Amino acid sequence: MKIPNPILTLFNFILLNPPLTLETCVDTVCHVLIRFPFHTEESCGYPGFQVSCSQNNQTLLNLPNCGQLKIQRINYAAQQLWLNDPNNCLPKRLLSLNLSASPFHAVYHHRFTFFNCSSNLDYLQRRYIAIRCLSHAPTYAVFATPSPTVVVHLSSLCVLVGAVNVPVQLPFYDRVLSSELSDDLRLSWDSPACGRCESHGGRCGFKGNDTVELDCYPLPSQGISRGARYAIAICIGVPALLCSIAVLRCICSWFRVRIRNGPWAYETVADFEALAGSPPATVAGLDRPTIESYPKIVIGENRRLPKKGDKTCSICLSEYMPKETVKTIPECGHCFHAQCIDEWLPLNASCPICRTSPSKLPQPRARSSP
Ligand SMILES: *[C@@H]1O[C@H](CO)[C@@H](O)[C@H](O)[C@H]1NC(C)=O
Ligand SMILES: *[C@@H]1O[C@H](CO)[C@@H](O)[C@H](O)[C@H]1NC(C)=O
Ligand SMILES: *[C@@H]1O[C@H](CO)[C@@H](O)[C@H](O)[C@H]1NC(C)=O
Ligand SMILES: *[C@@H]1O[C@H](CO)[C@@H](O)[C@H](O)[C@H]1NC(C)=O
Repeated sequence: MKIPNPILTLFNFILLNPPLTLETCVDTVCHVLIRFPFHTEESCGYPGFQVSCSQNNQTLLNLPNCGQLKIQRINYAAQQLWLNDPNNCLPKRLLSLNLSASPFHAVYHHRFTFFNCSSNLDYLQRRYIAIRCLSHAPTYAVFATPSPTVVVHLSSLCVLVGAVNVPVQLPFYDRVLSSELSDDLRLSWDSPACGRCESHGGRCGFKGNDTVELDCYPLPSQGISRGARYAIAICIGVPALLCSIAVLRCICSWFRVRIRNGPWAYETVADFEALAGSPPATVAGLDRPTIESYPKIVIGENRRLPKKGDKTCSICLSEYMPKETVKTIPECGHCFHAQCIDEWLPLNASCPICRTSPSKLPQPRARSSP
């Protein structure tokens, strides 16, 4: 029996009304939603963006020179995607990764040097993280490191495999001594530039069957009457606004507690992006010349530091090693890896341990530099 329900009618309208001009570029669901510019063999889309849906529901993207990788996530508005290896050994794929012939490039990349080690394995595995899927326990182990200090150390003990620019998820990778490199690769694309259209709620597509010109089409839901749109906006918008204010307040107080409690270490992408994307307006970072002026020392073999008992860097939580460079905040005397504090201070003008604010340095110090 059919009930003439106005809400049902609205839903039918939103869900079932297809966009009039995009009938040939159909959306496909296969672990992720595949739509323009991505496409399957049967559907239309942009050159270089063809994917296939495997039998076990993985969305596979074929990259020239390096074969198939599985798509974990696509952000159409940001024009970014996250990839991993369908056989769960991403480092093996990284050794032959070459994006030059694909439409994609890294958002952030970091140079990792790979080593193949067959002696001192116990010692090395206690100190660095071996890549499990490339290692063969008692015989040899493969390590990948972004740290120049570790490169020097491993060069003396192991065979160099190669150096690779790895597309990482975040810009901060220096503090890592070695990594298993199993995190998804974060890539982006510039063309087709559909991000603006997507972020305004539209859908990108070709203008016609025989042209590569693009157009931005409104979603069918934008065809609802004005009155209905206002009603929906008020019904959803007002509670949502109140909710977001409450959530924001929660997040703010949470960050306040965490930063006060230091040591600071981000745990998830969201943590970092919340910090980097919206630094609190009142906490401006320090300028480069001031940061450059801080005293630096290189740790000797005895690992002695100006402050006794200070063995770990509170930012990256790893122990100081001989030959690493350590920087001191003159106001409070707290030490950190130079790389760590160089990344921290431009975002936060305070000591991660005691929250002393070194921004109150005399300004001429900053002006004396070119
Ligand atoms: C594939 O994944 C989609 C989305 O996650 C899901 O709706 C669908 O049921 C899955 N199909 C199979 C065969 O597992
Ligand atoms: C990547 O491949 C291109 C050719 O497609 C080649 O010119 C380039 O040197 C390669 N880059 C690396 C790092 O191998
Ligand atoms: C590492 O060396 C071993 C032999 O010692 C070799 O069998 C293996 O393929 C090498 N692995 C890599 C990734 O180079
Ligand atoms: C575009 O192609 C589809 C099928 O391939 C066809 O139904 C449609 O009429 C074509 N549109 C134009 C404007 O040629």
